[in-house]
Amino acid sequence: MSKTIIISNRLPVQLQISDGGLTAIPSVGGLATGMKSVHSGGESLWIGWSGLTDEETPPELEADIDKALEQHACAKVNLTEKEMEGFYFGFSNRTVWPLFHYFLEYSEFELEFWNTYKAVNQKFADAIIEKSNEGDTIWVHDYQLMLVPQMVREKRPNTSIGFFLHIPFPSYEIFRTLPWREEVLEGLLGSDLIGFHTYDYERHFLSSVRRLLGLEVSFNDIYLDNRVIKVDSFPMGIDYKKFKDAAIAHEQITKENRTDFQKKLDSHKASAPDTKLILSIDRLDYSKGIAKRINAFEYFLNKYPEYKEKVRLIILAVPSRSNVPQYKLLKKEIDELVGRINGELSSVNWTPIWYFYRSLPFENLIDLYTSSDIAWLTPLRDGMNLVAKEYVATRTDKTGVLILSEMAGSANEMNEALLINPNNFEQQADTLKRAITMPKEEQMARNMFLQNRLERYNVEVWANEFMGALNRKSEDNYTFVSQ
Ligand code: ADP
Ligand code: F6P
Repeated sequence: MSKTIIISNRLPVQLQISDGGLTAIPSVGGLATGMKSVHSGGESLWIGWSGLTDEETPPELEADIDKALEQHACAKVNLTEKEMEGFYFGFSNRTVWPLFHYFLEYSEFELEFWNTYKAVNQKFADAIIEKSNEGDTIWVHDYQLMLVPQMVREKRPNTSIGFFLHIPFPSYEIFRTLPWREEVLEGLLGSDLIGFHTYDYERHFLSSVRRLLGLEVSFNDIYLDNRVIKVDSFPMGIDYKKFKDAAIAHEQITKENRTDFQKKLDSHKASAPDTKLILSIDRLDYSKGIAKRINAFEYFLNKYPEYKEKVRLIILAVPSRSNVPQYKLLKKEIDELVGRINGELSSVNWTPIWYFYRSLPFENLIDLYTSSDIAWLTPLRDGMNLVAKEYVATRTDKTGVLILSEMAGSANEMNEALLINPNNFEQQADTLKRAITMPKEEQMARNMFLQNRLERYNVEVWANEFMGALNRKSEDNYTFVSQ
């Protein structure tokens, strides 16, 4: 029976060795959390990196690792520390990530990074060939693996290959600065279907293909000699039911049985019932605009001092890519900013910012989503931003206000949120005031529209639409070959 092969750098679980044994930790990030619900439902195998480099893997644990991954219907690609350095910390996160998020000044063009990226992409392609059969459908994910579609195509010319980019595709003017821009485009063109979160990213990609490769592009089709490649936008949804049901279950837990985290939130609420909680959750990444958000919060408190002691900003930042210098600098900047603002503005009864630098289990995420009056998400650039969708999905009584950066892909589908420009402090201060004072009826009206849309276009619908389009495209491209 043919199956779907999902392939991404990070698997939905990351293995860690503790006390000589193996632990599987759920991965954080939009790709893993989104695709996990698709993977658990069907006949699929997920190939990716296990979370352990070769150097970290004692040979006697090899078989246990394979077994642990098999339980999650996963298989691993082995990577050495040196490969991770050049491929993941290097080309993926010091070249492509900053470039595609419009941080051109952070992007490093190192030949060694590029060579390792090519070699590691070839490893992933080889793993696909080894672990899949002729009739399987291959679904490649994200910017770490942009050369894989072409590499698989060379060995399996008639296989159905889809690619989805989870981050923005930048405008041609930005993309053209990449020294290996043609190779990257050619790598992607090994696919039959290339998907993006938004129509803008799709347009930018098509424009780069036309201008850099001189290929014929008609609407969203790219014409090669022997194949036509379809490019389309598929805005990724969330597992709406999972978040809604978790929030309903959360409401039903008796006070004594709540998590310790929720008990602390409850006791603060009891001691200051009028204080509004403003929540932000992101990976600690410069693209998320965390430092600007903190500055904008200070600006708000100075502009509207009557809200001192009446609001609290919770910042939950999950550690991410901490070997990359820009992320180290950002961590330091945020530690200092939070320290300075809390030092300057706190009173005996009030700390303006609660800052957590850690990954939290799912149940605590639900504690935070359901306890916060406002979610304030300010990415400077973000492929989608699923946190915005998760917050809305957990608002069972439909109250709560979402303030969202217009630079997030999700802003395209979330017009009922209060949309802001993260660089505009004046606008954000006024929007925070508006959110704090928004009547309940207005909150409920806005969230009703948002929730209906999230429920309809959930992650399963997203995956089915992508797979449906891929199957149709592959039939067009290859039926004549197999006849
Ligand atoms: P990105 O893919 O850039 O990380 P998204 O907002 O699309 O951004 O996805 C982030 C995902 O990671 C969400 O599903 C969110 O619930 C999860 N997440 C973010 N921060 C944490 C955290 N501190 N602990 C656990 N999960 C987190
Ligand atoms: O959604 C974008 C993305 O880069 C995914 O590819 C990735 O899994 C996630 O964010 C988290 O990043 P990382 O895998 O580098 O921790």
